[in-house]
Amino acid sequence: MSARVAGKVRGRKTAMIFGLLRQRRFRLVTADQRQVPEQSETHREIRCVFQFEVLMTMMARQTFSWREASLPDLVSVSEIQLVVHEALQEDDVVLADRLELSPEGCFMLEVGGGVQGYVLSHPWIRRAPPTLNMMLGEIPDAADTWYIHDLALLPQARRSGAGGNVVPLLADIARSEGYGSMSLVSVYDSRGFWERQGFSVRMDERMAVKLASYGDEAIYMERTLA
Ligand SMILES: CC(C)(COP(=O)(O)OP(=O)(O)OC[C@H]1O[C@@H](n2cnc3c(N)ncnc32)[C@H](O)[C@@H]1OP(=O)(O)O)[C@@H](O)C(=O)NCCC(=O)NCCS
Repeated sequence: MSARVAGKVRGRKTAMIFGLLRQRRFRLVTADQRQVPEQSETHREIRCVFQFEVLMTMMARQTFSWREASLPDLVSVSEIQLVVHEALQEDDVVLADRLELSPEGCFMLEVGGGVQGYVLSHPWIRRAPPTLNMMLGEIPDAADTWYIHDLALLPQARRSGAGGNVVPLLADIARSEGYGSMSLVSVYDSRGFWERQGFSVRMDERMAVKLASYGDEAIYMERTLA
């Protein structure tokens, strides 16, 4: 818009405002005088929750990518574990054990230039999940499944598709290494997530005993790889 046209538009607006002021249909107020419509406590709470949800969704929709992990990522893995697994902590040496034994099965989630999650996985023996905080030392010769030791995302990175995105990647690795199945111990309320990823519950009394270190809600799950 040229300066002359812009000047004319501003002039018309000013004239219109003075016209409304003369008719007492418009009142100029300062920011302090501006009346905010009355809102109930519940209304305010609903707005607050809504705004928070929108913010979380926008943050989660930032582009994410999974990259290969290595031993120097131990610091981030340890920090994330502290937030995600408050009651199921493992020692740093145990986390380092996974990163060293099976780097091809370990990935870090990058979101907006920062690390917001990890997945640790390795070959293992079907129906014999390691107990919590157990050092493996080596991959057994009898390994016959690709075991997902842990998939953990910081709260702000969840429901973004990132968790669901890395599972097919692990399945491809497992297949290419010659494994016919994947297995894991599901904790918290993650069973639904794993079922969507093709895993099924494989529990019996003996398995419940083996999972005791993971808490009462732990479930052993397997997925056959075609
Ligand atoms: C579980 C977890 C890895 C899922 O990752 P995510 O990126 O949030 O999941 P996605 O966005 O890929 O979700 C894929 C689908 O699973 C569903 N889903 C996600 N988390 C779920 C959960 N805890 N329970 C049930 N369904 C879930 C989503 O609604 C989504 O369904 P949709 O595609 O129809 O919308 C992540 O929420 C997390 O780190 N949670 C805390 C730690 C944890 O529980 N880890 C698993 C330990 S075994």
